[in-house]
Amino acid sequence: MTQEQQKMLAGHHAAQFVQDGMVVGIGSGSTIAHVIQALGERVAQENLKIVGVATSEKTRRNAAQLGIPMYNVDDVDKIDLTIDGADQIADDFSAIKGGGAALLWEKIVAFNSLENIWVVDASKRVDKLNQYLPVEVIPYGANQLFKRFAAEGFQPTWRLDQNGNPVRTDSANFLIDLHLPEIEQPRALGDELIKMVGVVEHGLFTDVVDRVVIGQPDNTVQILE
Ligand code: A5P
Repeated sequence: MTQEQQKMLAGHHAAQFVQDGMVVGIGSGSTIAHVIQALGERVAQENLKIVGVATSEKTRRNAAQLGIPMYNVDDVDKIDLTIDGADQIADDFSAIKGGGAALLWEKIVAFNSLENIWVVDASKRVDKLNQYLPVEVIPYGANQLFKRFAAEGFQPTWRLDQNGNPVRTDSANFLIDLHLPEIEQPRALGDELIKMVGVVEHGLFTDVVDRVVIGQPDNTVQILE
């Protein structure tokens, strides 16, 4: 199976964890596009009654188009279950997220959810995190922060759009990607980054997930809990 087929398989499987009456946090990215599609089908065909909370403006638009009523995170009492993607998931269930620039809202929704499921294709599973790490920063003073990241040896790069301008997140912040070797201690690194003035949030997600749904190349779904 291709990577895209694995994403679709896992996405449709994960959508089955959603039950009638739930408030559902809906993640962002290409894998979650399949979850949104599957949830839209369930709403239309099974008359599934759910309320969605989006982790990005794009997700909000796409889910609403498929008939899922979308609410703001501050307009719900609780979120029962959030389903999201990830860029990498390590053996200790820590993850890097934010490849799609939605890490801040994703983290807010995740930490306000009673349960979290991540959905990935098999390529996302690694022993230790070793991919670029997105960090969302306030534009004011961002150049100074960038220099500080460089001085710390974090090998920063700006996240730029096709025109070479800084990508703006849904909260109008910038993204700086850090290029580190294997991340041995994600919690410690996350604690260090969040203390740096100007950092809004980082893409290290630790102690968040309850269940990981993985689409495998052999057309099976693996669930890690
Ligand atoms: C969005 O900012 C990310 O955290 C996504 O959840 C992550 O990048 C996974 O995206 P894909 O499903 O497109 O790989």
